[in-house]
Amino acid sequence: MGGWHFAGNVSSYPDIHGDKEGGYRVRAGCRTLCIPQREQPQRVQMSRSNLDEQVIVFKYKGSIHAIDNKCPHSSFPLGQGSIYDIEDAGAGIRCFRHGWSFDLLTGQGDRGTVRLALWEIQLRDPPDESDGDGDKEIWVKRRS
Ligand code: FES
Repeated sequence: MGGWHFAGNVSSYPDIHGDKEGGYRVRAGCRTLCIPQREQPQRVQMSRSNLDEQVIVFKYKGSIHAIDNKCPHSSFPLGQGSIYDIEDAGAGIRCFRHGWSFDLLTGQGDRGTVRLALWEIQLRDPPDESDGDGDKEIWVKRRS
């Protein structure tokens, strides 16, 4: 399927969770993938290159999230931010640089109209299901 990229199996991601006041650092539990804007299928790789091309994928309290690594405020890597609970409304990510926050379900920022880009996520059965112990594959796609 065009535009979809394999990001690993669900079991390969540590679950970030708990009740830590102030939130959890994302970096320890996330994976950063570089997916060029002009995509070349099957060329996904770990990268420290252009933030415009990076997606970070992580598991928080059992749910997989895939978001731009680039903070929409001023382009700081969100992989260095922290995750926190939004009361009765899921979770958010707080940028380490200036402290702006973004809802992980909607992308809405806490200031102005700035919005974080969320990626589409599919959890798929592995090609050979006999391998599986119920583990799913994570596929991500940039929203158009
Ligand atoms: S760069 Fe992220 S809040 Fe400013």
